[in-house]
Amino acid sequence: MSVSEAAQPLVPGTAFSRRHLLGIEGLSPLEITSLLNLADEYVDQNRLVNKKQPTLRGRTVINLFFESSTRTQSSFELAGKRLGADVMNMAVKASSLNKGETLIDTAITLNAMHPDILIVRHQDSGAVELLSQKVSCSVINAGDGWHEHPTQALLDALTIRRRMGRLEGLKVAICGDVMHSRVTRSNIHLLNAVGAQVRLIAPKTLLPAGIERLGVQVFNDMREGLVDCDIIMMLRLQMERMEGSFIPSTREYFHYFGLDREKLALAKPNALVMHPGPMNRGVEIESSIADDRSISLIQDQVEMGVAVRMAVLTALSRQLDREDAV
Ligand code: NCD
Repeated sequence: MSVSEAAQPLVPGTAFSRRHLLGIEGLSPLEITSLLNLADEYVDQNRLVNKKQPTLRGRTVINLFFESSTRTQSSFELAGKRLGADVMNMAVKASSLNKGETLIDTAITLNAMHPDILIVRHQDSGAVELLSQKVSCSVINAGDGWHEHPTQALLDALTIRRRMGRLEGLKVAICGDVMHSRVTRSNIHLLNAVGAQVRLIAPKTLLPAGIERLGVQVFNDMREGLVDCDIIMMLRLQMERMEGSFIPSTREYFHYFGLDREKLALAKPNALVMHPGPMNRGVEIESSIADDRSISLIQDQVEMGVAVRMAVLTALSRQLDREDAV
């Protein structure tokens, strides 16, 4: 039986019965597929005129973002609202954190207001897990430092699965600033769990030592790494995370590691291109490739993001229901 055949719970989303979603590492293929199946249903619902259903009615969801975010925060906000929850976006810049309050004190204060689900993005790896130990509600990691960004990996997987019909056996190249990328770490765990093959393509300076141990093939040359790939995921050069210089210049970077038509031609003829956003046009990806809807899945990724976050919110809320019932 294949991984995908084994992973069909009767009610989508029910195989995932955790209190928090802190990372992809450690999730079973069944848990992952079950969330993707539930998200698939929400994709259809989100295309209707009436996008709302009362699954989370009565529940309070708080977005607590310590780092700036456009798509992830708005996507979580819409997801919560479409499920009928009360959603609050905490304005971190205007909060007491600027008056010296610690992350944990802020979390404990918010917890006292009885939220059901806290969605947290923080610049430090491990901060979201630490916070989850101090609160009584469910916690979703919306990106912690260089560590994990689980809903991004889930939305990437859903995007690929809907377009290619499967994940198993696909060759996926993740290219660029692997070092600073939580998106890459979550994607490696997910793609490995469902039987895809992951290749990392990056300059040596942007590859963490020992990354091969996660079960990936590593290349330093796009011309070698892209050969025969089904999916090419491009990453943003995360300048704000770099102390000192990791690349000689962005022009030179594009020459060697930017995705242009010539390099794209080395992958499979029907290969598809992805990017988690925000993207730097002309630095890691040629504009015309990013905008070509026949090969670029970037807009699909944004659409899948809302559906995946609705699935995660629903699964966590069902788990809270189960805990309340005992
Ligand atoms: C990513 C992130 O914040 O980790 N973006 C996102 O969530 N869509 C990647 C990035 O910032 O480059």
